[in-house]
Amino acid sequence: MKTAIVYQSYHHGNTKKLLDAIAEKYEVTLIDAEKQRDYDLSQYDRIGFASGIAVGKFYSKVLKAMKEKLPEGKEVFFIFTCGVMKDRYTNAAKKIARKKNAKILGEYGCLGYDTVGIFKLFGGFAKGHPTREEIEKAVEFYGSLK
Ligand SMILES: Cc1cc2nc3c(=O)[nH]c(=O)nc-3n(C[C@H](O)[C@H](O)[C@H](O)COP(=O)(O)O)c2cc1C
Repeated sequence: MKTAIVYQSYHHGNTKKLLDAIAEKYEVTLIDAEKQRDYDLSQYDRIGFASGIAVGKFYSKVLKAMKEKLPEGKEVFFIFTCGVMKDRYTNAAKKIARKKNAKILGEYGCLGYDTVGIFKLFGGFAKGHPTREEIEKAVEFYGSLK
């Protein structure tokens, strides 16, 4: 099963920590949506999209990559980190996936250190996240994908 994960992780590299742990254990191609433009997802059976959350959804470059690069009918999954856990963060990504007739395999999200806006004044929010346990759970999530 050839797998790629397209990601953006610009705030503190929180999401990338999850992906690095996954890539350490499993053979997976990581594609940085900020830096890489010239890539083809058609060669992959399964495609993950991973991101921090901004204003309630995945970062814009990841959503753009989904719109522009995700071929029809692929298996997809989502990974994210956020300042405050809520259950709607993958809605925008799921909407795009559905338009592309993708099969959504699942999602994993956890907290990630957040210093945006006013949180910065108090030394940030969700400090120390993702924790080692949260990172391990991300690896377990990936391993559980069928
Ligand atoms: C501009 C901006 C907006 C954010 N908006 C939200 C938000 O709406 N909800 C939330 O839970 N976290 C929000 N956060 C926090 C990030 O999603 C969180 O810190 C995440 O772990 C960052 O991931 P990264 O380090 O991989 O970029 C925001 C962060 C930034 C920089």
